[in-house]
Amino acid sequence: MSTDPLPLGWDLAPSPFHPGELAIQRRVGVVDKVDAQGRRSVRRYLTEQHRAFFGLLPYAFVGTVDAHGQPWASMIVGDPGFIAAPDAHRLEVAGRPLFGDPLNETLRDGAGIALLGVQLPTRRRNRAIGVVKRAGPNGFAIAVRQTLGVCPQYIQGRDARFTADPRKPEPRPVHRATTLDAAARAIIEKADTFFVASADPREEDGEAAGPDVGHRGGRPGFVRVDDAQTLTTPDFVGNFMFNTLGNFLADDRAGLLFPDFETGDRLYIAARAEVIWDGPELAAFVGAQRLVRYHATEVIRVERALPLAFSAPDWSPLLARTGTWAEADAAIAAERDRNVWRPFRITRIEVESDSVRSFYLEPADGGGRAGYRAGQFLPVRVEPPGWAAPVTRTYTLSDSPGGTYRISVKREGRGGVSDWLHDHATPGTLIEAMAPRGSFTFETPPNRAVVLVSAGVGITPMLAMLNDLLVNDGRTRHHAPIWFVHGARNAAGHAFAAHLRRKAELHANLRVHTAYSAPSEGDAPDSVGRIDVALLKRVLPFDDYDFYLCGPPGFMQGLYDGLRDLNVPDARIRFESFGPASVARRPDAAAASDEEAVRVDLAKSGKVLRWRPRDGSLLDTVERAGVAVLSSCRSGVCGTCATRLLKGAVEYPEPPAHEIAEGEALICVGRPRPGAHLDDSADREGVTLDL
Ligand code: FES
Repeated sequence: MSTDPLPLGWDLAPSPFHPGELAIQRRVGVVDKVDAQGRRSVRRYLTEQHRAFFGLLPYAFVGTVDAHGQPWASMIVGDPGFIAAPDAHRLEVAGRPLFGDPLNETLRDGAGIALLGVQLPTRRRNRAIGVVKRAGPNGFAIAVRQTLGVCPQYIQGRDARFTADPRKPEPRPVHRATTLDAAARAIIEKADTFFVASADPREEDGEAAGPDVGHRGGRPGFVRVDDAQTLTTPDFVGNFMFNTLGNFLADDRAGLLFPDFETGDRLYIAARAEVIWDGPELAAFVGAQRLVRYHATEVIRVERALPLAFSAPDWSPLLARTGTWAEADAAIAAERDRNVWRPFRITRIEVESDSVRSFYLEPADGGGRAGYRAGQFLPVRVEPPGWAAPVTRTYTLSDSPGGTYRISVKREGRGGVSDWLHDHATPGTLIEAMAPRGSFTFETPPNRAVVLVSAGVGITPMLAMLNDLLVNDGRTRHHAPIWFVHGARNAAGHAFAAHLRRKAELHANLRVHTAYSAPSEGDAPDSVGRIDVALLKRVLPFDDYDFYLCGPPGFMQGLYDGLRDLNVPDARIRFESFGPASVARRPDAAAASDEEAVRVDLAKSGKVLRWRPRDGSLLDTVERAGVAVLSSCRSGVCGTCATRLLKGAVEYPEPPAHEIAEGEALICVGRPRPGAHLDDSADREGVTLDL
């Protein structure tokens, strides 16, 4: 229990965040949540814990601003105890700035300052912001205005030992330039850590204004040197406060510090920052939520200038789901070949339930993995010995993007691809795959509650989405409640049960409900029976949900109809179905009245159908009319559904991977192109298919 005789949290009426920070929080949909959280966690004083923490450090990082308003990130070093907190509002720093550090010029009484204490061996860090007092040859003080305990993400563990007396900084060669030379590039390209200083110079922002300094970590290669004046870095999921990006809205100048932990060089870069919110490079970089491009204006490198030697890094476990620029480039190249069958090797097989196994796949041609969004599927082609021809299937990728591709396959027991994978595939087996694709992806803003409902192997896209939302254990990028409602036959048939239990323990906003239709003795589901709308009404608290559904056709249609009967808007229900007879939608009244139908004639069966955009593909429309059509991949990859087109034209929202022969249509991904209005109705002319 705290013994501080001080208010808990932020005790001023204005937000602890300035308008720039709030604007970014608003843009990503977390402003209410993070503002409330900031009022609890940001304080105007040092807690007992902060005071003790700063006193242990042999080094810390500093953000200041020079006379021209340019922020600089710096490092200060001293024997543990060189930073002391005599009371809750003051920090005292003994010793001078390091030789060649911009802090020698920026440290002046009355100037704003940010101090980031980082304990690399334990990954703890705390930040204090305040005003410089009594700057002199033997040190300075900070009148503390704001403090925050920040999360230990992406920090590499490192031990340090002194190699020289930190109280006697020695002159070292200093290189100044306006561009990045070979030595600077080498430091950046191997860096796994850098620090970024930024500042909000607007006095009207009161207590929230001033400089800041933050830590950035990644795998070596996470910072790319684009040219002699430009670097690009990913911005991973953080604490959602957006102190740095918020400052860039107020002033786009940044100060970067790359400490070279091997040689002791320090590289300082003054730059202008540009935030990139979308585009192919962002999509290809695993874990990146945004990119930040820094345009260097001044570069300072001080040689062998740290009085410390550091151990090799102990990598942050959170780096496992983050990429590098080399991987992003390989993913972009793989994306260019998205419609080419490439060899993939099965590297691992895991048993997930009595009928589901996971297969992990890596490219076997030396190329990279194309990126994907959680919920998408992987087209797979196999040609086992003795089979007449290769067979194509699509399997949802069952884990979040970032690692090896993982498909989780249910044994269908009909002697097809799934049985072959279960019975014959082993680590080392080669199969073929194309780049992932599919439109069933997560589209809900982070402040809206969501329900992921699945049955059987329909769990796979839901699991990928869930793992993607709960980015790292204990962190979430979705702040509203997430309900994971899953139906299985019994515990033996319940894939990923232990994984879901663990996620629910780690994430307060996740609730898992399991329904078993035929529980075995000893099973302990949350409910017995199949999932239907009555169950959802019973389990879900009143809220404004988006629903995602995946499972067998009857399950999906029943849930969809039930939710629509409860007035859940059509646009708030997203689903993925496997196999024929996908869900028939009932659009909202306003949308339905705008829809024009296109006529589809089936020559052989003599049926006349009406196709509307909500009906999906021509294949869906034809199947709903009770006409059987051969299909396999249902994604334009295998060509099985190719149908003779007798009249009209078919268009494709995305060009299919399979070549379309003259006079044919791939109806699993095709839609009729609307022609002229028909004389006798409001419908438009469409197509005639040889079915
Ligand atoms: S079913 Fe494979 S292309 Fe249509």
